[in-house]
Amino acid sequence: MKRTKICDVLTLPSNQQELIVMGWVRTFRNNQFIALNDGSTIQNLQIVVDFNRFSEELLKKIHTGTSLKIVGKLIPSQGKGQTHEIIANTVEILGECHPEQYPLQAKKHSLEFLREIAHLRMRTSTFQSVFRIRNGLAYAIHQFFQNKGFIYIHSPVITASDAEGAGEMFQVTTFNLSNVPKTNSGKVSFSDDFFGKSTYLTVSGQLEAELAAMAFSNVYTFGPTFRAENSNTPRHLAEFWMIEPEMAFYDLTDNMDLAEEMLKYLIKYTLDNYPDEIRFLEQRQIDEEKQKPQNERSTMPLIEKLQFCIQNPFERITYTKAIEILEKSTYNQKKKFQFLVKWGIDLQTEHERYLVEKEFNKPVIITDYPKEIKAFYMRQNEDGKTVKAMDILFPGIGEIVGGSQREERIELLEKRMKEMNISANDMYWYLETRRFGTVPHAGFGLGFERLVQFCTGMNNIRDVIPFPRSPKNCEF
Ligand code: 4AD
Ligand code: MG
Repeated sequence: MKRTKICDVLTLPSNQQELIVMGWVRTFRNNQFIALNDGSTIQNLQIVVDFNRFSEELLKKIHTGTSLKIVGKLIPSQGKGQTHEIIANTVEILGECHPEQYPLQAKKHSLEFLREIAHLRMRTSTFQSVFRIRNGLAYAIHQFFQNKGFIYIHSPVITASDAEGAGEMFQVTTFNLSNVPKTNSGKVSFSDDFFGKSTYLTVSGQLEAELAAMAFSNVYTFGPTFRAENSNTPRHLAEFWMIEPEMAFYDLTDNMDLAEEMLKYLIKYTLDNYPDEIRFLEQRQIDEEKQKPQNERSTMPLIEKLQFCIQNPFERITYTKAIEILEKSTYNQKKKFQFLVKWGIDLQTEHERYLVEKEFNKPVIITDYPKEIKAFYMRQNEDGKTVKAMDILFPGIGEIVGGSQREERIELLEKRMKEMNISANDMYWYLETRRFGTVPHAGFGLGFERLVQFCTGMNNIRDVIPFPRSPKNCEF
């Protein structure tokens, strides 16, 4: 007889059939009821042990975390809270788990504590729910783009170029750092390094995606990206996953339409496929928010918030209009913003939150930002001041997507690169796309963890990636 997964057990008729189940003990009550979990579902299976039939020595070894093999009969449950239960015939301990040494107990632990034991936290219902949804979203992203005929491109992880031009790169080298080769003039001699030049972990696969879009029209990347920005916030990671579609013959409006359709598809996918997990996370959020002051609580419970997002068109406004709204707001007049609102500023979190949560109360797409605060590759507008950028802002998250129509006109691109001190020599391959059959094109980047945050209602980005990397933190 083979092991049956708990997700399958729960769908079987409870007609006394004999089964083998294996899993880890979540709780053991009254020396009689074991809640067993094997990760195939967030539900536990109730195992009933008749303590008269088992030795005390065996029963004493059953604790939260102990792994078990149970052979028993499936019957309709006598108690409340479950439909099925198994009456154990044999109980075999696969692995003991010492209750005084095991950090996870059958009680509520804080997320901060669980972050410190990330090697064990996947065993909790919260993290099982989050990572099941994360898995589903990764699958749904491929489904969305594959259904549309997009080609999945693996962009390189190691690169010699700074796609965003923001200088937030991790250096990749095989040099012995206590003895780095130098040139006669005292500079580091990168020609002696592994790749014969200075190399880094990629901040974005966009530039390579653009090369591919010039052959396939519609492509996307989905891979890890790295940023050495010293941002210790609940929205930033040093290593995160990004989805970057790139489409030839798309303008900014086509780009926004695709991004909005994608986000709605992914949110709906979560609601349709993970109802148990979503309900669990919604309840968790409600319980947690009871401890917060009223003004810090989210205005909508998780499910309602997700549904609202699917049902309503995103607001679309220009940066200039956004600044106008912020300037005129009573919030600004009462000097409640910490940072000055003025045309030209990079929008701060407080400004984004005001627009999304107070002014519009739904996702907002902001377009046509000042060129000074955006990357070199964005298409320049007629006004000479703004570029065809778009950022999508989500409630509670802020920027979830950043994208643009690209500058396809070589003279303008070269001019902008010069102004921004980006070497046209090093980037010759990128410029060749504009030289050989250039076309209007556009694309965007979706921060995968920020999407998972939104769909699960988790406040801290470190709780939606299994092993988060952030400044001064690279455990596990
Ligand atoms: O706005 P960003 O920097 O845009 C790009 O990288 C473009 N190359 C995308 C493109 O047009 N193909 O990053 C895109 C998204 C952000 O909107 C945000 O969701 C996420 O990536 N992101 C981060 N997520 C977690 N931690 C960080 N440090 C992030 N930085 C950006
Ligand atoms: Mg951005």
